[in-house]
Amino acid sequence: MLIHRDIPGLRAALAAWRARGARVALVPTMGALHEGHLSLVAAARAAADIVVASIFVNPTQFGPNEDLARYPRDETGDLAKLRAAGCDLAWLPTVEAMYPAGNATSVEVRGVSDGFEGAARPGHFAGVATVCTKLFLQTGADVAAFGEKDWQQLQVVRRAARDLDIPICILPVPTVREPDGLALSSRNRFLSAEERATAPLLYAAMRRAAARIVAGEDARAVLADEEAGLRLVGFAPDYLALVEAETLRPLDAMTPGTPTRLLAASRLGTVRLLDNIPLG
Ligand code: PAF
Repeated sequence: MLIHRDIPGLRAALAAWRARGARVALVPTMGALHEGHLSLVAAARAAADIVVASIFVNPTQFGPNEDLARYPRDETGDLAKLRAAGCDLAWLPTVEAMYPAGNATSVEVRGVSDGFEGAARPGHFAGVATVCTKLFLQTGADVAAFGEKDWQQLQVVRRAARDLDIPICILPVPTVREPDGLALSSRNRFLSAEERATAPLLYAAMRRAAARIVAGEDARAVLADEEAGLRLVGFAPDYLALVEAETLRPLDAMTPGTPTRLLAASRLGTVRLLDNIPLG
């Protein structure tokens, strides 16, 4: 596996593969890799000849009150996992390579960025859209794999690629879960033993809510009821919402023919858990 930390090195390696007609898939990550990330590498492997995984803890997607310094980092462990997963190139740009002095351009995706995580974390999706756009242009990848776990991020990145005419196919990869249903996340390591035992109840509440709505119960009443249940077991829910899957427009009921998603964010102790599932 090649490792590059500057743009000329990355481009030279990619040009050599491209000259042989290879298709390139990108897996953007911030490191602290777990099985969820490795499922993205596997999906990328199946979709292209060459897999490039980026590891870059992107400062522009962290707000002033969010602890960028606390973000887990394990470069040696991450590189070993990527090598074992069959990744061809690890792209580890420095902050200076990604954001050279004087940089003044950012990508803002209106609409789909505004609610939910965008409302809770102002500026977050501009940071994500900017860094992903840069990664797409740096690598010229044909395909980029993103986890469905961060559903809103997936829609923001799709919209940005479409609006900016970037010739890349965004490949959604299903969420990987622990056997008890908890969605894998780098943040799970910050849960105490007691919180870890409670955490799967979020997914259980979402599945129950989805089943009740599909069965015809009033969606607003169901969501309020399930949120109240989560509070009783120690969660501080931020939202449990029914939305149009692509635009994230809030819905009061399932609409026939419109792909619908149930989104949830909730604090458990100091950890903000995110999850989502399809309906119907
Ligand atoms: O999901 C992530 O890890 C990050 O938001 C991403 C897509 C790598 C951009 O920094």
